[in-house]
Amino acid sequence: MAAVIAENLTITYEGKPAVEGVDFLLEEGETLLLLGPNGAGKTTLLKTIACFHREYSGELRVFDRPPCDARELIGYVPQSSNLNEKVPLTALEVVAMGGIYRRGFAHFKMPREVVEKAAEVLGFVGLSGFESRLFRELSGGQKQRVLLARALISDPKLLLLDEPLSALDPSARVEVANVLERIKGERNITMIITTHDINPLIELGDRVMLLNRRLVAFGRPEEVLRDSIIKSVYGPLARVVPVEGRLFCITGDAHLHEHGGGGL
Ligand SMILES: Nc1ncnc2c1ncn2[C@@H]1O[C@H](COP(=O)(O)OP(=O)(O)O)[C@@H](O)[C@H]1O
Ligand SMILES: [Mg+2]
Repeated sequence: MAAVIAENLTITYEGKPAVEGVDFLLEEGETLLLLGPNGAGKTTLLKTIACFHREYSGELRVFDRPPCDARELIGYVPQSSNLNEKVPLTALEVVAMGGIYRRGFAHFKMPREVVEKAAEVLGFVGLSGFESRLFRELSGGQKQRVLLARALISDPKLLLLDEPLSALDPSARVEVANVLERIKGERNITMIITTHDINPLIELGDRVMLLNRRLVAFGRPEEVLRDSIIKSVYGPLARVVPVEGRLFCITGDAHLHEHGGGGL
């Protein structure tokens, strides 16, 4: 079964399109890297798939259901954590919140099975022994791994990650990228990962989408990551460089419309 199908998908905010006329099909179990400059519509597309945003036209199916009927199958890791760090939550409590939320009602005392499951997913992301550490005192990479665990606790079939590496230093990027590889390798989860910098994640991608309000390209990494395609979005200085059999993208920090990529 396809995990996500979009046909002529246009997503609007008060009538103004942020994503326009997009078609793609993502098979179950595949990882999609969603690339595009600032303002390209990456977060908008993720939020619409997750049913956080509902203003769209065209067809969008998640495991053959409308997105809002597939919510229990979806895990979402937002770009910057919306946790209030003034509240001294432990790592385990942050993860368990993902499990409690799924049950649809608030608990003052966490059920034992939620606590056990939270400890298990913390172990999966390499944070056994961190259960009672305060979330706000963890490093950036550790926080991001706790947030991954929070999304994993409900056993999603589709995991949506919005720029999971963007706030991290290079060593923390490797730390989190390794956990994403582990998720891909050991759990049959379909993932959509938006990213500014595709390079640390390139090995993960079964498919790459280049979005610039409209769909610029969608396909296997070697089909999409071509000089001509990257330049059409990121401008003439962008390029794709093969190094020891791997592709590296040099895109700078382009913004939508600077190079006419949005067609406006
Ligand atoms: N809540 C919102 N209301 C109105 N416009 C929005 C909202 N969120 C995003 N947009 C607009 O939609 C476009 C795409 O934004 P976004 O999806 O955040 O892009 P990206 O994640 O690729 O940087 C931008 O023009 C942005 O200003
Ligand atoms: Mg975004």
